[in-house]
Amino acid sequence: MDDANSYLALFFEPIRPYLQDDAVSEILINGPNQIYIEQKGKLQATDARFVSEPALKAAAVNVAKNVGRLLNDENPRLDARLPDGSRVHAVIPPLARCGTVVAIRKFKKEKLTIGQLIEFGSITQPGAQLIDAIVKLHKNVIVSGATSSGKTSVLNVLSAFIPDSERILVIEDASELQLQQRHTVCFETRKPDKNGQGEVTIRDLIHSSLRLRPDRLVIGEIRGGEALDLLQALNTGHAGSMSTIHANSPLDCLSRIETCALLSGIDIPLSALRAQVASAIDVVVHTARLSDGSRKVTAVSEVLGLENGEYRTRDLYVYTIRGIAPDGSLDGGFAGTGAIPTFLHDARLRGLPLDETAFAAAPEA
Ligand SMILES: Nc1ncnc2c1ncn2[C@@H]1O[C@H](COP(=O)(O)OP(=O)(O)O)[C@@H](O)[C@H]1O
Ligand SMILES: [Mg+2]
Repeated sequence: MDDANSYLALFFEPIRPYLQDDAVSEILINGPNQIYIEQKGKLQATDARFVSEPALKAAAVNVAKNVGRLLNDENPRLDARLPDGSRVHAVIPPLARCGTVVAIRKFKKEKLTIGQLIEFGSITQPGAQLIDAIVKLHKNVIVSGATSSGKTSVLNVLSAFIPDSERILVIEDASELQLQQRHTVCFETRKPDKNGQGEVTIRDLIHSSLRLRPDRLVIGEIRGGEALDLLQALNTGHAGSMSTIHANSPLDCLSRIETCALLSGIDIPLSALRAQVASAIDVVVHTARLSDGSRKVTAVSEVLGLENGEYRTRDLYVYTIRGIAPDGSLDGGFAGTGAIPTFLHDARLRGLPLDETAFAAAPEA
């Protein structure tokens, strides 16, 4: 057990076994009498209980204190990262109707590798070659998907394909990515202090990064106005950058970037904004957590541009569900769609291995 875990366990005694169990990835506390855990991608109820609501609330307040923050009537929500990298979000009553609500997402030090994603059936070897070529060809990539669908893990895998010779600038809200390349410079945002001072945002760090001669920008997640700064950076020649965003499909990913860019407060006509999104983003890699608990890359989609003011994307590689067995397990498979990537020729010129089966359509079943 490491330090930070013991420290959480000190405050959250009733859930200590789950904090210490590496197989548990998330712990969800809905008031003192209802605690769920996530294990192997599945949620399950536990018998653990806190003795009372005041005991649970005190635990959450203590966690806040330990990271120099307040959790009280004026600040009834806490979003904190603990020293070990795990994340805690808490909301206290009366906002939370069932008593103090806490979600703990444990931090896994060992990041998944492309080898493991293939082994787990999250992608195939030809699919891995496809995304490797996309990165090597300096395409701008956004990884989209729902919360906890595996976006950050896929971003980490994508970043591993960046050649060692390039200068990589990484910007995150909370440091999660682990880049192996030597020439990597990492930044982390800062929340405002108790007096609302000293905040440093993703936008601020993008501005700094652009003055620090990046070959590649890797941004942990886009949630707001920084989308516009990123689009402008990408459209002025920082090709090969990558990030993640919460979205339901590759097409939705582009709309979400647009919506986030509008949050920047900078007035820009919608048609101009769409043109920027369509030209900045080359590829969307979509991830999903499926009903059997498995996480997969469910689409690699190329952005073709705008047509009558609407985004056009084309799937190159998809996961299709063919059937669901009575026990809930999925019968499905990865295949190309028959669409040839626009960058196939470039990949060949560069001598990048690209297995044709990655984008050849699946034979009729
Ligand atoms: N392909 C995968 N197979 C199994 N577990 C995965 C896979 N991808 C991610 N995970 C695990 O799922 C959890 C959430 O992944 P993460 O990449 O942080 O998701 P997101 O960024 O979408 O919220 C982590 O514990 C991670 O280790
Ligand atoms: Mg993430």
